[in-house]
Amino acid sequence: MTNDLQKASGILLSGDLVAFPTETVYGLGADATSEEACAKIYQLKGRPSNNPLIVHVSTIEAARSIALFNELAEILAAKFWPGPLTLVLPLKSNSNIAKIVTAGLDTIAIRIPSHEIALELIKTTGKPIAAPSANPSGYVSPTSAAHVRKNFPGLYILEGANSEYGLESTIIDLTTKPIILRYGFITPESLSQALGQEVIYNHSYEHIKAPGMMAKHYSPRARLRLNALNLEEGEIGIGFGQVDFELNLSRSGNLIEAAANLFDMLQIADQRSKNIGIAPILNEGIGLAINDRLKRAAS
Ligand code: TXA
Ligand code: MG
Repeated sequence: MTNDLQKASGILLSGDLVAFPTETVYGLGADATSEEACAKIYQLKGRPSNNPLIVHVSTIEAARSIALFNELAEILAAKFWPGPLTLVLPLKSNSNIAKIVTAGLDTIAIRIPSHEIALELIKTTGKPIAAPSANPSGYVSPTSAAHVRKNFPGLYILEGANSEYGLESTIIDLTTKPIILRYGFITPESLSQALGQEVIYNHSYEHIKAPGMMAKHYSPRARLRLNALNLEEGEIGIGFGQVDFELNLSRSGNLIEAAANLFDMLQIADQRSKNIGIAPILNEGIGLAINDRLKRAAS
């Protein structure tokens, strides 16, 4: 075990916060069984207390001890874990999870991340880890240790490479008919295929099920103009494919590459100008998640 891991784990066990890499974005972690530790997440992020957190575990057994798994949950966990998929399931009454984590709901959002360092941290700590993205509430999510350091200079950061996917996990609610609450790297098509039934994204559920999925989110300080084919005076451009500007999410029009670059380029552009123009992004597959984030970032 490295010194860094040991140190990070010690900080978590003492009730403090640690930032750590995951394959999606960097997380701001706390011991999910401690009310005080998790309260610090809300405080540091300026996060509304009605916005529940995702709990990260390293084994399916640990997940089953916290959440009530049904058949669909077993199928998705077997297929997509460890990985960028979060399941919303009924919370077990004897789970030990701090109430503040679920914002008082009787359901819980849970996932097993695939990032080695994240898994090692959870195992070493021996606790479920509550972790939202490590950014001030409402701002662009961090995909590198440098992003986290800029936002939270005093925070202990377990460093790793830049996030492989660059978009938060897909969230699917399995407490009712399966419904996607947040688009992510795992697409509606692959979920539908795995479950043998059509899984849809339902807007009207957002407010009830995921109070955190506010219209305005992931926002740079600059004004963001979507579907830009040309730049207006004073704008810095983020291109995609053939619509080429100074920055480009993917010159070859690859959506996976674009997702991985999105939050970094938004932050680079945000530092350079008060106005950003971003090219249209193909609205299918992972493009659904990219466009979802952009719509919120621009509103
Ligand atoms: O990829 C990710 O999921 C990252 C990394 C760090 O794992 N985490 C992340 O957490 O994106 P956060 O807090 O930024 O987003 C959590 C979302 C919120 O929109 C919240 O409303 C929703 O999950 N959520 C949490 N618990 C829920 C529940 N019981 N029911 C419905 N939605 C829930
Ligand atoms: Mg977030």
